[in-house]
Amino acid sequence: MSDETRWERSDNEGMRDQYDQRFRQLHAEGTDIAGEARFIDALLDRNSTVLDAGCGSGRLTAELNLRGHHCVGVDKDADLLRTARDLHGPGHDFVQADLLDLAPQWMEAGGCPARYDLIAAIGNVMVFLAPGSERQVLRNFASLLAAGGRLVTGFAAGHEYSVEQFDADAAAAGFALQHRFGTWQLGPYGRDSGWATSVLARSIG
Ligand SMILES: C[S@@+](CC[C@H](N)C(=O)[O-])C[C@H]1O[C@@H](n2cnc3c(N)ncnc32)[C@H](O)[C@@H]1O
Repeated sequence: MSDETRWERSDNEGMRDQYDQRFRQLHAEGTDIAGEARFIDALLDRNSTVLDAGCGSGRLTAELNLRGHHCVGVDKDADLLRTARDLHGPGHDFVQADLLDLAPQWMEAGGCPARYDLIAAIGNVMVFLAPGSERQVLRNFASLLAAGGRLVTGFAAGHEYSVEQFDADAAAAGFALQHRFGTWQLGPYGRDSGWATSVLARSIG
């Protein structure tokens, strides 16, 4: 298994630049890009600890910190982390790391919390991981969750990595599905949904 992520591969197709430009523009225009943050905020007690796994240009991290949580954004892409720091300014923790390396001791050694009330992998992160690495990344997430903590993922259906494969990997990593929606506004999920927003909790341990 190569550790090259599908996101790094997509660089060749210019997808990374398009994503960066798009979110810089939406930010500059003041467009509402806080839908995922509102959904996640509703799941949390006040002052919770959140890991934004694959934070990209950092909108979820910044929005959750504004809402009074302590959110740490982690991403492998140094250029996008630079964008995150540019757009959102100081006061946010943006850390460069491969999600495959995450573990409680690793986070603590970097001055971050070892355990999280919620881990979010939104904006298609799951479908851009290195092929074959998804189950290990989910195991890493499980090791970082506080008791009663939850995992929230959001990704488009119809990619090489499917919702069915995600469900199998999540179950193998010790997660149970609590809720699934077809949008971030609680729209129903069905066979033809083009999107899956999933809320999971540890099923064991
Ligand atoms: C489509 S972007 C989404 C970014 C952000 N979550 C959002 O919603 O705007 C996918 C992100 O996943 C990150 N990613 C993919 N595989 C990763 C890995 N193994 N470790 C860390 N980040 C990863 C990429 O670097 C990229 O920033």
